[in-house]
Amino acid sequence: MNTSAFSVFTEKPIIFTDLMELTITDYAFGMRPGVAMPDKQILELLGEERVRKLVSDHYDLLVESEIKNLFPGNPVALDAAKERAADFFIQILGGPQYYNENRGNPMMTRRHMPFKITPSARNIWLGFYKELLLGLDLPEHLIQSYWNYLNVFSTWMVNTKE
Ligand code: HEM
Repeated sequence: MNTSAFSVFTEKPIIFTDLMELTITDYAFGMRPGVAMPDKQILELLGEERVRKLVSDHYDLLVESEIKNLFPGNPVALDAAKERAADFFIQILGGPQYYNENRGNPMMTRRHMPFKITPSARNIWLGFYKELLLGLDLPEHLIQSYWNYLNVFSTWMVNTKE
């Protein structure tokens, strides 16, 4: 059975189904579980522009959230951050190597070190992705694949206890 509701953040309809399990796994601090890369069909179906929009929408939610202090406050820096993050996601989804060309080796955990990322910051970060992923016009197994990647890899970025 499908039920629908409207997101309090994006005001767009979100669809909940019985098949997907977009749950946030509560990993112990310091764990680095193995990461399965997201299905490359996601980029084939969405195209680069919709991946960029997804990342942009995510940042727009972050900069209004409880963890906004982590993110750039001015629009120029915010646009640059969106571009770096979108370059990364397009790359890991099998697209052009934009991130490596512009920034070099991703070294994601190292790049997050200057920021205090707590388990609850991760929950907020993931919670916004959950909403946005559920609003995408993609088959459920692909949404699940993207989620699984974010759910696991995001715990690698947690570098500070509450
Ligand atoms: C655990 C939750 C996370 C938080 C709170 C977080 C926070 C941040 C912050 C504060 C920055 C620096 C500001 C900016 O440039 O946006 C950043 C950069 C970035 N994050 Fe995250 N992040 C998280 C998880 C992730 C994950 C799971 C990925 C990838 C799958 C990711 C990819 C990136 C990328 C690509 C950048 C840009 C790095 C660069 O400057 O080249 N983040 N993140």
